[in-house]
Amino acid sequence: MRILSGVQSSGRLHIGNYYGAIRQFVQLQEEGEAFFFIANYHSLTSLRDPKLAEAYTREAAMAYLSLGLDPKKAVLFRQSDVREVLELYWLLGTVVPVANLERATSYKDKIAKGISADFGLFAYPVLMAADILLYSPDVVPVGKDQIQHIEFARDWAVKFNLTYVPGYDPQDPEGKEKGHAPGLLKLPAARVQEDTATVPGVDGQKMSKSYGNTIELFGEEKDIKKRIMGIKTDSTAVESPKPTENAPLYDLLKLMVPPEQFPEVDASWRAGGKGYGDYKKLLLATYLEAFAPARKRYAELANDPAELERILADGADRARAEAARLMQRVRRAMGVP
Ligand code: ADP
Ligand code: TRP
Repeated sequence: MRILSGVQSSGRLHIGNYYGAIRQFVQLQEEGEAFFFIANYHSLTSLRDPKLAEAYTREAAMAYLSLGLDPKKAVLFRQSDVREVLELYWLLGTVVPVANLERATSYKDKIAKGISADFGLFAYPVLMAADILLYSPDVVPVGKDQIQHIEFARDWAVKFNLTYVPGYDPQDPEGKEKGHAPGLLKLPAARVQEDTATVPGVDGQKMSKSYGNTIELFGEEKDIKKRIMGIKTDSTAVESPKPTENAPLYDLLKLMVPPEQFPEVDASWRAGGKGYGDYKKLLLATYLEAFAPARKRYAELANDPAELERILADGADRARAEAARLMQRVRRAMGVP
């Protein structure tokens, strides 16, 4: 089974990204042949500072590696290191109905927020489909908000195959029956991470870099401390039982405190007698313990940029070999010398 996924490098990673996405990637690399990439071309739809674009790409790579992605098990690469993706993006775009892009929810949401309707944003799903189809994965693990993008990739792969593969039958995409031909572009399946609850930010909204409410994975310890100490709480007295609804501090403890220790924390929270400050200190200690090994590896990688480049170059070579094979067939099918 081949698994592929990507994450945009449009900001500093936070614990919501870890529990919501990266943790699953680390598990998935054990289950099949995994490809994980940093979608740095995509991030340019929202990031227009070249220094930051470069830094976030590097930081995302260091984050993946220090959180447990293993270059011996998974192919880890930067999207922009495999330029074939831009070629497929164009070629695939020639069969993409504009009407699909016009009803893309991620695009509509962004426009509704006042983000300008640039072509890159509009064409984002086509590049994402190219990302996927270039590597013929079986499954693409993504969050719920990305399902529509995977459906587009499937629809466009079918349309491409119908147009360019004689004998292709969408009812028999693998071409198993006599007279049928297998598709050139393989239809991916989305794997949705349903069970990961939304990680709340320090203000109680969904943790997101766009809300400025994150607890970063690799920030300075003093900044992490400030964020955790600033988690929004109500005015329940020290001695009173604490509410468990609309309580981001409680939710974060539940997420991060090891499951065998949580019942004790839960009992004291419900009984009262401790102040929120005590729980914030506990959360900080838990955070530091949980991420200490990753933070140490991250610091080591930060001090060894050549090693990071070596790992990314190796991932890019492996990804490119795969991409080049597919592109040869796509060009031939379309009549591109
Ligand atoms: P942000 O909201 O900070 O911009 P992204 O949209 O870049 O984060 O998310 C990258 C990945 O992390 C996605 O797979 C997303 O599902 C996951 N993720 C982000 N924030 C959270 C959260 N608060 N809870 C759970 N998962 C999250
Ligand atoms: N759009 C995805 C996100 O925001 C990132 C992404 C880009 C991606 N290309 C991909 C995810 C290909 C899976 C497969 O999360």
